[in-house]
Amino acid sequence: MTSLSWTKIANHINELDFADNHIAITEVKGKKICIARWQDQVFAFAHKCPHAGGMMAHGYLDALGNVVCPLHRYKFCMSNGRNVSGEGYFLKHWRVEIRDEAVWIGMEESKGLFGFFK
Ligand code: FES
Repeated sequence: MTSLSWTKIANHINELDFADNHIAITEVKGKKICIARWQDQVFAFAHKCPHAGGMMAHGYLDALGNVVCPLHRYKFCMSNGRNVSGEGYFLKHWRVEIRDEAVWIGMEESKGLFGFFK
């Protein structure tokens, strides 16, 4: 079973600096990640595209709530990371929870050698 380690990234969603494309960049444990807001939902996904490293924060959200990479326009589902435009890539993403207005990101615990937990 995987356990998640939760990090609070803001006391309120409005503390995050969303650009006009509804995507903000934040940092969790020294790692830059993207936060996107779409139809009252909040998503967290990788800062760089799994295809060729495009900056996902410079992309946009399409009408179906997929994030589109600015470089070659591959599309990814923000809730499961699926490459919905069909090129076979997978966008790393994380769970987001709003608890008492604060925004929390759940990441898998890092594993030590041979998969044992530290
Ligand atoms: S780098 Fe994102 S689609 Fe190519």
